[in-house]
Amino acid sequence: MNLAVLASGYGSNLQAIINAVQNGEINGRVAVVISDWKDAYALQRARDYGIEALYIDPRAYPGREAYDREIVALLHKRKIGLVILAGFMRLLTSHFVREFRGRIMNIHPSLLPAFPGLDGVKQALAYGVKVSGCTVHFVDEGLDTGPVILQEAVPVYDEDTDEALHERIHEVEHRLYPRAVQLFIKGKLRLEGRRCLVDES
Ligand code: GRF
Repeated sequence: MNLAVLASGYGSNLQAIINAVQNGEINGRVAVVISDWKDAYALQRARDYGIEALYIDPRAYPGREAYDREIVALLHKRKIGLVILAGFMRLLTSHFVREFRGRIMNIHPSLLPAFPGLDGVKQALAYGVKVSGCTVHFVDEGLDTGPVILQEAVPVYDEDTDEALHERIHEVEHRLYPRAVQLFIKGKLRLEGRRCLVDES
């Protein structure tokens, strides 16, 4: 299966997915990495592995939908079976979601539905929860509202800073996201309304 990764920043989740492809834990190939940031380190990671790396500048388009139409066209041209959002800092328009319904995943650094949107880690710490974590979910038109695929808890310690907690969450993300991608590729995810049932057999 051809995979596309959309990332705005550092790309450590992209790296985890590339690693999982390389060691056979994901039966697919990262066909393209797309970023809305010219200097996103994620683009450099892609280039290092000979993966097509595209910077698409949002300012070159009249609006969000025009931007998404361009990306959707690029994805269709590359016969992408799954779109993986990995720190992509833009909300997808309904055009994008419609074109790839059920075939877009995102990872979020909290136990959704708690602390959606920006700075999920900071929000959790400020709220004072004792447990946070991360969530892989399908993407719908809302902000981090799609069906949950996998979640894992991470404890919050008294001495935690945003950075320390995010680092521990990142470690879990790097295990969880490749697993979710492989479950999708193997056809082991089934949606029943909002519930995503996982066939672990
Ligand atoms: C991750 O924490 C992810 O949960 C959130 O953005 C961060 C991206 O990190 N959506 P990276 O760019 O993959 O290192």
